[in-house]
Amino acid sequence: MSKNAEALAAQIRNLAGAEPVKLGLILGSGLGHLAGAVQGVAIPYADLPGFPHAGVSGHNPNLVIGDLEGVRVAVFGGRAHYYESGDPAAMRLPLEVLRALGAEAVMATNAAGSLRADIQPGDLMLLSDHINFSGLNPLIGEKTDARFVPMKDAHDPALRAALQAAAKTCGIPLPEGVYAWYSGPSFETPAEIRAIKILGGDAVGMSTVPEVILARFLGLRAVAVSTITNMAAGLSEENISHEHTKAMAPLGAAKLEKILRAALRAMA
Ligand code: HPA
Repeated sequence: MSKNAEALAAQIRNLAGAEPVKLGLILGSGLGHLAGAVQGVAIPYADLPGFPHAGVSGHNPNLVIGDLEGVRVAVFGGRAHYYESGDPAAMRLPLEVLRALGAEAVMATNAAGSLRADIQPGDLMLLSDHINFSGLNPLIGEKTDARFVPMKDAHDPALRAALQAAAKTCGIPLPEGVYAWYSGPSFETPAEIRAIKILGGDAVGMSTVPEVILARFLGLRAVAVSTITNMAAGLSEENISHEHTKAMAPLGAAKLEKILRAALRAMA
């Protein structure tokens, strides 16, 4: 753990209280309102030296520490994407801070395009696994042997089962699938989507994979859910845009909030 992360964790404990955090939540495009559901203290990223600027519209760059359904959570209202800075490790410090605050697990959420006809805009997809289609890695340059992180079961089976149980309680379908990380910021071409389909991808997006790699590196259990905002390029007549992503994400976000609350109640 870097000294910087320890210092930031101390600063956050001073502001929000010393009780350890159990779970971190990283909110994707259009999912920011979830941060408002938490009873707690909001700290702007700008007050946390080294935190990313998180300049993508539809993101809310605050860290909220507090209670959601009786569980102490840390909600990252905005994430840094590789395509903003060219740094695939842009979320390393926030995840180190999460670990330093005592968290055992992190849940990443994202907006994604679907490659599967049975997973439509407005639906959710629980990540069973991922494909690093970008070829980038946030651990390149890491000097310790800890960089050789095993990625089998990187998407934690027990956390996935907990979310599935919660989804069942809520009566909300939660199909599982493989998420392919595309660097962005341009969207994929139809030919790239056909390639990803052949490789085994079920959904595509521009985040989450580096965070899951970093989480496993830091000893955090990881789980991730996509809100499907569109069919991937070439699979429907609809035009893909960031505006469309932001408009569609809240549909899935409402379902995701119900599932998350049910899962947290079961965990509390
Ligand atoms: N591709 C990549 N990222 C996305 C998409 C997509 O189709 N939709 C939302 N985020």
